[in-house]
Amino acid sequence: MPDNFQSGPFQRIKAGKAEPRKTPCVDASPDPCAMVIFGASGDLTRRKLIPALFKLFLADIIGEEFFVLGVARTEMDHDGFRIAMEEALKASGEFDSAAWEGFAKRLFYIAADYNDEGAYATIARFLEEKEVPFGTGGNRIFYVATPPSVYETIAGLLGSSGLAGERSGWTRLVVEKPYGRDTASARRLDSAVLSSFSEPQVYRIDHYLGKETVQNILMLRFANTIFEPLWNRHYIDHVQITVAETLGVERRAGYYEQAGVLRDMFQNHMSQVLALAAMEPPSVYDPELVRDERSKVLLALRRPPLEDINDWLCLGQYAGGEIDGKTVPGYREEEGVAKESLVPTFAAMRVYIDNWRWQGVPIYLRSGKRLGKRLSEVSVQFRSVPHLMFRDTIGEEIGPNTLILKIQPEERIQLKFHTKSPGSRVCLRDVFMDFSYLDGYKGLTLGAYERVLTDCMIGDKTLFVRKDGVSLSWEFLTPILEYIEKNGKGAPEVNLYKAGSHGPAEADRFISKDGRHWRNE
Ligand code: BG6
Repeated sequence: MPDNFQSGPFQRIKAGKAEPRKTPCVDASPDPCAMVIFGASGDLTRRKLIPALFKLFLADIIGEEFFVLGVARTEMDHDGFRIAMEEALKASGEFDSAAWEGFAKRLFYIAADYNDEGAYATIARFLEEKEVPFGTGGNRIFYVATPPSVYETIAGLLGSSGLAGERSGWTRLVVEKPYGRDTASARRLDSAVLSSFSEPQVYRIDHYLGKETVQNILMLRFANTIFEPLWNRHYIDHVQITVAETLGVERRAGYYEQAGVLRDMFQNHMSQVLALAAMEPPSVYDPELVRDERSKVLLALRRPPLEDINDWLCLGQYAGGEIDGKTVPGYREEEGVAKESLVPTFAAMRVYIDNWRWQGVPIYLRSGKRLGKRLSEVSVQFRSVPHLMFRDTIGEEIGPNTLILKIQPEERIQLKFHTKSPGSRVCLRDVFMDFSYLDGYKGLTLGAYERVLTDCMIGDKTLFVRKDGVSLSWEFLTPILEYIEKNGKGAPEVNLYKAGSHGPAEADRFISKDGRHWRNE
């Protein structure tokens, strides 16, 4: 048996018997390591990364053998960085004064220009100096949380400075989204990244994969006997995947004006949730095998006919309105947004997966900002019964069975079915079997960033997107984006919708012409 077989899905081969690798759970211990965060003065570091690391520190998941080196252009010293991070933790509600001192002494900062080769030599010296006292064993994570315009520069200079190499420990590169803005730019970024790092060293983040309820899609499907036999074209009428946000563009207009909802949500989060909901089971829960199956779904996405784009795509942009009793401005009134911007903040799209399981089953994807309710879910609507023997008795149509996987903010699984209404008449009513994800669980729960950071320190890549995963979803979306942006003949209009609504009225027409309707709460 070749040696490298041991690094595949099977760890050890004994007398011809393979032992499946045990995938680490929450309580697996990450390796000691140093984490260099590029973009340390930015929003992501303040809002997500430091709160996640602090929580892992509080929970003893990362311990003494760990430190952070923040790198950014803003002039600051170590203490300035610590003060800024203390404020960030207080703002996030994660602050714990008893643990703060122990964490703060693991925070360091270097002000640097990302283009300056000398800065990388300074980082290298700093790491060498601190690695022994902190006992991090030479394990290094470089986390790129900067604006995307400098991703290629940082990856290239990490390579040319020798920092990408592995000596006494491992070296990993974490890249945030957006990973490119179309097929060509994603390829360019890949070649810059992969000229310095090898693919196994690269961790492309999609924080939706770190959400417990998103991971649970696989457990629900493949650890139970009762769902999977129904999970196909014979029993499923259609699937709806919704990610609705109440937030607007916030202070990210500079980025969002270049992105819009298709790049911001569909290329990554929506595609990955779709892939989990539709994929085939691999033979073992191994990172590469799971990622193979996710990629196969993206590969099987039917290329939709651009000339009929209005038949399968509806775009929208929020106008002013009211959310939770507060008046909010329209997208075009937000700071940094062009007064005549046509950037969509809402999209609904019908896609098909051309394979044996899903042939002919429409999958409706919908995401938007400033909608009436924050809600992410996958809802699987089953076909109606072939013949309704109660038809004459109840005199009205009964709805189909629906399985709803609620991702956030509620974390539940609900199954809608019909039952008899109590009483002497034959009357049916819709009822729910309802499971709340945290029912019966008292242990620690990890948020999406806490989970993906832990997995990166462990070296488990299941929840990260592989090179082909990124490029397949760009290959699907890029022709659509180009068609819209070149304003191709009949390109969809961007319909205004009131903040606080369910989206544009056209989105309802869009699905109702298929004889279906959105599941709205
Ligand atoms: C990010 C998008 O990736 O995901 C944001 O850039 C969006 O625009 C966010 O608001 C949604 O994430 P979550 O975890 O809040 O649903």
